[in-house]
Amino acid sequence: MKKIILFILIINLTGPLAFAQKAIADKYDLMPWPKEIRENQSKFVIDSNLTISIHPENSERVHHGAVQFLRRLTDRTGVFLNEGFPVKNKKGSIQIHFDEISKLNIQNDESYTLEVSNATIHIKAKTDVGALRGLATLLQLTAHNASEYFFQGVKITDAPRFVWRGLMIDVSRHFHSVEVLKRNLDAMASVKMNVFHWHLTDDQGIRFESKTYPKLTELASDGLFYTHEQIKDVVAYAGRLGIRVIPEIDVPGHATAFLTAYPELGSKDDYTYSIERFSGVFDPTLNPTKDITYTFLENLFKEITPLFPDDYFHIGGDENEGKHWDENEEIQKFKQKHNLKTNHDLQTYFNVKLEKILNKLGKRLMGWDEIMTPDMPTTAVIHAWRGENEGLTKGGALIEAAKQGYQTVLSNGYYIDRMQSIAYHYGVDPIGDVKLTKQERANVLGGEATMWSELTTSVTIDSRIWPRTAAIAERFWSPKSVNDLDNMKKRLETVSVNLEELGITHIKNQAVILRSMTNNQDISSLLTLTKICEPLKIYARNEDGIEYKTYSSFNLFADACIADAADAYGFNKAVSNFVKDSKKYSNTVLEYLKPWSQNYQAFSQLEKNPKINALEPLSKNVAEVSKLLLEAIQTKNITAKNLQTLKNTIELLKAPVVDVEVALIDALNDLSHYCESNYLKK
Ligand code: ACM
Repeated sequence: MKKIILFILIINLTGPLAFAQKAIADKYDLMPWPKEIRENQSKFVIDSNLTISIHPENSERVHHGAVQFLRRLTDRTGVFLNEGFPVKNKKGSIQIHFDEISKLNIQNDESYTLEVSNATIHIKAKTDVGALRGLATLLQLTAHNASEYFFQGVKITDAPRFVWRGLMIDVSRHFHSVEVLKRNLDAMASVKMNVFHWHLTDDQGIRFESKTYPKLTELASDGLFYTHEQIKDVVAYAGRLGIRVIPEIDVPGHATAFLTAYPELGSKDDYTYSIERFSGVFDPTLNPTKDITYTFLENLFKEITPLFPDDYFHIGGDENEGKHWDENEEIQKFKQKHNLKTNHDLQTYFNVKLEKILNKLGKRLMGWDEIMTPDMPTTAVIHAWRGENEGLTKGGALIEAAKQGYQTVLSNGYYIDRMQSIAYHYGVDPIGDVKLTKQERANVLGGEATMWSELTTSVTIDSRIWPRTAAIAERFWSPKSVNDLDNMKKRLETVSVNLEELGITHIKNQAVILRSMTNNQDISSLLTLTKICEPLKIYARNEDGIEYKTYSSFNLFADACIADAADAYGFNKAVSNFVKDSKKYSNTVLEYLKPWSQNYQAFSQLEKNPKINALEPLSKNVAEVSKLLLEAIQTKNITAKNLQTLKNTIELLKAPVVDVEVALIDALNDLSHYCESNYLKK
């Protein structure tokens, strides 16, 4: 009997209900997609009488969130709101209820319900942060017809899948101002992310003011650092958005900047340290055998931990190859004396000492997965990043850590600086198909997108983070079953544009770069190229870290291009349909090819400079290939000579130019094969 009931339930969930959910998913551009959404017949019309009341009134977070909400709503709709907030003790048309002020830790309850009816909207949550998440959803529900803006009647019941939904920003390789951070925090909150991991130190610079060790800022920052007041300001700003801030002080490797200021902490005598300008893994490493190293770190941690209220503190720990340790006789003797066989053992010795220091300061140590060694206590938190593919379904270091009893966070698969596609990142599930016990599952806290900024300045950082990170945010928040790529991409288009309301520059700065490149000429021919070109992926843009230095130009064509070229996904899809049904899809393919075939003409009109000149072969070859394909498809005919030219030109397009690749190569090859099989006169 039980089996029969279960069977009926399954039928219901996969049958009409699933169909209804699909229809809803097509209708609302929500991201992350909520756990449950049901429509009702109501409609709340947005007019000038809309007001918000907050119960109780004592949450700075919800008050701030409501103010932001009203600003964005009135700007988006053009509706002039009379009051916004009702007078005290009056109920608003939007009523927000919560039970308690969140302590903002990993136990935080972010669940909420949101119910839209004709005259009122209720957001109910256990915590004020949950209420904020509900408000973010409500704003995304804003809809319109020709005569009015409105919220469609729905009841949403929502809660996150993972408690840790983070974005790491590296401010060492390139510094990013408080303003950049704040706008990105706003964007994070808009997609319900809740951890900002602040990578503050690396070989290329120390980015916080130290009063205890002033040479860090004097000698190792190029003057680009945050004062204590600025750090407090960012932490408070994040806190109002329900975002925790985890600082990272990366030691003992990635320490060139530390040692530039305090060479006496280094592992190699008679070595001249200076701030690193290239990218990569370097030898300068703190000396783990000297007491002064621990005194230094303890004093530094004492100075900065009060600025960061969160329980967690990241000590990096990655990519220490121990070369300078191997070259230092004293360190070798120390290893023998303490029975430390390998450099991993020595690093664990260092990490365990750091953990004790941090524990005394009330902090929990977190580090990249290199810190997971047999002697590392399971009180440490493992940040999994390594492995090319094992993070996908097997989980790699993440699953290993969870099974060994460590709390753990996944970044493998969410390295957004690798410039991989939205589809790739969206397809990475933190747990995948791995079976975990309840406790092991609880150890998996969630994930973080990592914005390493070797190739990123404040002009381009937003376009490297967004919109891909919104899709990653959905992976961390929404049920695992929410995985329809096309539907997600449709929703993301709206969400991406709405990020501009928060000052995110990912769309507009493309034109900023192109205007600069062309000395303010007509940029349309270059814009066309950005829609089919992507920056080289997986660090091919800066092979071995030696093409670009800190002060290289990041205002190039590659910087105007993004990981998902706007026309590539649509064209590739159109071609895969065309080769199956050319009659039905030929127009779609031709619509893409026509403007590309004419683009070189427009490009040729530009007054040249070295940056534009470098694009000449790319522009010419794209036009050539498009013209040949266009003609072949239109006439259903291709000569042997043209086919050969087509093949040769596609081959030329395959080679990267100016650090970009054409994102159409497979589809162009498919079309070329199609033409050969179907249009070539034998
Ligand atoms: C890392 O990417 N080195 C953590």
